[in-house]
Amino acid sequence: MNATEAIEKRSSTRSYTPEPLTEDEVRALLRAGLAAPTATNRQELHFSVLRSGNALLQRIEDEKNRLRGARPDKNFYYDAPLVIIIGAESSFRWSPVDAGIAVENIALAAEELGLGSVIIGCIYDALCGEKAGYFNHALGFPDGYAYEIAIAVGHKAAEKQPHTFDFDKQVTFLP
Ligand SMILES: Cc1cc2nc3c(=O)[nH]c(=O)nc-3n(C[C@H](O)[C@H](O)[C@H](O)COP(=O)(O)O)c2cc1C
Repeated sequence: MNATEAIEKRSSTRSYTPEPLTEDEVRALLRAGLAAPTATNRQELHFSVLRSGNALLQRIEDEKNRLRGARPDKNFYYDAPLVIIIGAESSFRWSPVDAGIAVENIALAAEELGLGSVIIGCIYDALCGEKAGYFNHALGFPDGYAYEIAIAVGHKAAEKQPHTFDFDKQVTFLP
């Protein structure tokens, strides 16, 4: 699969089988994130890797539910076997952009490996709220780092078509 194929085939997966990812798969996903460009090559991103069953996932879910209300059917990571949480230097202007590029790199690497993924922003309030200090420490973030974005990855239990878009509405060609 080439890069364009991965970009065009990728879509968010919200249903996973329990099959765990192999160490090689996990390392390939992390290498894809680490290979992402960062502004001024600062490499300010930190990747925290959680396998399903890690008690911290439930603590994050509980805090999200406390702040936003629980969804009865699904947790924030859709029971995926792997969640990668990306933190970055909170004072660096480009951290959100750099984290976004890295998380998409991981999503595309997952697609190439035949895996599904979904980017996760809904835990922002939980991880950046009053318990930020606790979660930053529990996630192993260096001092001065904060949550930026996360991604769940696993074997797809359901297929979804990529989203459609309106090329003409979103693109302007200037002469
Ligand atoms: C920054 C960001 C945050 C997102 N947060 C969530 C989330 O918390 N939960 C979720 O189910 N999907 C989340 N998504 C996935 C989007 O809903 C999804 O990408 C969008 O609906 C387009 O669908 P597609 O990914 O299948 O093309 C997020 C995507 C982005 C880029």
